[in-house]
Amino acid sequence: MSKERFYITTPIYYPSDHLHIGHAYTTVAADAIARWHKFAGRDVLFVTGSDEHGQKIQRAAKKEGVSAQAYVDRIVSTFKVLWDKMNIEYDDFIRTTEPRHEKAVQTVFQTIYDRGDIYKSAYRGWYCTPCETFWTENRLVDGNCPDCGRPVELLEEESYFFRLNKYAPRLLEHIEKHPDFIRPEARRKEMVNFIQSGLEDLCVSRTSFDWGVPVPFAENHVVYVWFDALTNYLTALGYPDDQKMQDRWWPADLHLVGKEIMRFHTIIWPIILMALDLPLPKTVFGHGWLLFESGKMSKSKGNVVDPLVLIDKYGVDPLRYFLLREISFGQDGNFSERALIERTNADLANDLGNLLNRTLSMLNQYFKGVVPQPGEGTEKDQAFIDFARGLGPAVDKRMRNLELNEALIAIWQLVGKANKYIDDRAPWDLAKAEDKGELKTVMYNLIEGLRLTALLVKSFLPATGGKIWAQLNLKEDLDAQTLAAAEWGRLLPGTKTRKGDPIFPRIETKAEKRPLSKQRKEKKKPVKKREGVLLNIEEFSKIELAVAEILQAETVQGADRLLKLQIDLGSEKRQIVAGIAQYYTPLELIGRRIVVVKNLKPVKLRGELSQGMLLAASAPDGNLELVTVSSAIPAGSKVK
Ligand code: MSP
Repeated sequence: MSKERFYITTPIYYPSDHLHIGHAYTTVAADAIARWHKFAGRDVLFVTGSDEHGQKIQRAAKKEGVSAQAYVDRIVSTFKVLWDKMNIEYDDFIRTTEPRHEKAVQTVFQTIYDRGDIYKSAYRGWYCTPCETFWTENRLVDGNCPDCGRPVELLEEESYFFRLNKYAPRLLEHIEKHPDFIRPEARRKEMVNFIQSGLEDLCVSRTSFDWGVPVPFAENHVVYVWFDALTNYLTALGYPDDQKMQDRWWPADLHLVGKEIMRFHTIIWPIILMALDLPLPKTVFGHGWLLFESGKMSKSKGNVVDPLVLIDKYGVDPLRYFLLREISFGQDGNFSERALIERTNADLANDLGNLLNRTLSMLNQYFKGVVPQPGEGTEKDQAFIDFARGLGPAVDKRMRNLELNEALIAIWQLVGKANKYIDDRAPWDLAKAEDKGELKTVMYNLIEGLRLTALLVKSFLPATGGKIWAQLNLKEDLDAQTLAAAEWGRLLPGTKTRKGDPIFPRIETKAEKRPLSKQRKEKKKPVKKREGVLLNIEEFSKIELAVAEILQAETVQGADRLLKLQIDLGSEKRQIVAGIAQYYTPLELIGRRIVVVKNLKPVKLRGELSQGMLLAASAPDGNLELVTVSSAIPAGSKVK
C-alpha cells in the first residue's frame, strides 16, 4: 500500500522588511506539523518561500536606493538564515522571481484568459499598497483600508479582470459540502458572509509599475501580486511541466496562513483553481495573531522583536515551545519575554529537564547507569504504563486535527505523570529493600517514559528530542524513528545511559532585564565634540578601509550594546564586535555591505575577538546609521 501523503505550505512572506516572530510563528507551526506527519510515517512535502513582486517592494527598494532585485536578494537571504536557525526543515523554497515560478504564473494567467475568465477593462477604485489589496468604495472604513486602517490610493488604470463573481455560487457550495475546507469554524463563517455580500470581479493586472511577472499577451501589464503569489503552491509541484509531481501532491492538504489573508486563500485561490479545472486544497487553516503588550507588532510602534535575538538569548527550543504551547492554535495569543521565561522555567527546566536529570542520577546511583530488566509491576506502575501506551495515537489524533497546543499538553501530561510517579514510588525507599525487583521496574518505566517523550517531542523541539536521546544513549538513529517506535516496551534492558548536563538550565529572571524591543529606543547619547586634528594624505592612507559583507550577526551574552558579526572581506573572513545592538537587530544586518577598518589591532571585547571596526555615521541626536554600499560593489573592494 502506498504511504499516505501530506502537502503543507506556509504563506510566502514579503521581503519588504525583515521577518519577525509573528512570521516565525506560522513557519514553526507548519514545521512541527510537517515533522509530525513524517514521524507518523506519511510522505510529506513542506513548502515555504518569498513573495517578491509588487508595488510595496518596489517602493521599499527605491527608498533604499537599490534595484528591486538587489533589495529582495538581500532580505530573502536572511529568511533562509532564520529558518536554518529555527530548525525549519522545508523541502522547497519558492522565490517568486525565479524563472520556474514566472512560467507557472504566465501559464495560469494565459490558460484562464484563453478560457474566457480573464477580460480587459479599466480599473477605477482604491488600493492599499501595504496589504496589496483592491477595495471598492463601500468596503472602506472612514476612507481607509478596512484591514489595516491605513490610507488607500485612488487607482485609475487599464487592467485585466478575473471573473470571481461567476464562480461565487460554486464556491459557496464547495464550502458547504466540505466542512474542513475553511478552518477554524469562525473563519468559515466570516468567509461565507464575505462571499454572500457579493463578489466583484478582481483586477489581476497592473500597468502603473513594472515589478512583477509580465502578462504574456499584453505589453506593459504585470500580473497582480496576489494572483502571482498564490500560484507558488503549484510552482512547487513543477506546474505546468511536471504532471507526475502534480498528480502525486495536488490538491494540497493544508495551506497554513494567518487569519488576515484567509480571503485570498479561500476565495481568490479556489476560484483560480476552479477556472483551471483543478481540485481545491483540502484545508485552509487561518491561525490567530501573536499580539504584543503594545498591540500588534509593527515597526512604527517600535515593538518589533527579532527572532534571532530571542534565539541567541534563550535558545531555539524554548522559543519553539513557547509559540506552539502558549497559544491555542487558531486563537490570538500574547507574546512577552516574561511569559517566554516563565514557560521555559516551568515546563522545560523544571518539568522535563529535571525529570531527565533526576531519573538518570538515580539510575547512575542504583544501577551504574544501566537500564535494568523490569519485573511484574504494581497497579501504580501499570497506570503509568497505560497512559504512556495510549499517548502516541492520542498525539497523532491531535495533530491530524491541528490541535498543536493540545498535543503538547498531552505530552507534558506524561512528563507530569512521570514526575509524580517518582514521588509516589519513591525509588530511594525501594532501594533500601533487599529485593531490588520493584526498583528495577520503576527505573525501567521511567527511562522508557523518557524514550517515548524524546520521540513524541522531537517534531516540536527537534534539538531537545536529540538531547534526551543522546543522554539515554540509544543507538538507533533518532531521525529515522517513526511513531511505531513509540510503542511501550521497546527499550532494551542493558542499555548504558550517559547522563549529561541539564538540557534546560533555568533562566534567571534578571536576564530578562528590559524588553528587547525597548532596547533600540534608549539610544540618545549626545556625541562629544572633539577638537579637529589635521592629517596629511600619508597619514590618512595608513588606514585601510574596505567593503565587507555581513554573513552572520549575533548578540553577545551579557553585553546589551554589542553585536558579533562574521564578515566576508573578499579574500578572508573575520569576526568583528560592534556597539550597534541598540540600532540594528541581527536580521537587519545580514547581507549588508559595510565599510570596515581592516588594519586595526585586534582586541577582545567581552571575551569576543574583534578583528576590525565598522564605520557608522552618528547624528548629533544620538541616532546612528551604518555606512553601507550597494551589492554592486563586491566584498573586499577598497574604500578610499
Ligand atoms: N505575501 C503575503 C502572503 C502570500 S501567500 C500566497 C503576505 N506576506 S507577509 O509577509 O505579510 O506575511 C503574512 C503572514 O505572516 C501571516 O499570514 C501570518 O502567517 C504571519 N504573521 C505576520 N505577523 C503575524 C503575527 N503578529 N502573528 C501571527 N502571524 C503573523 O501576507
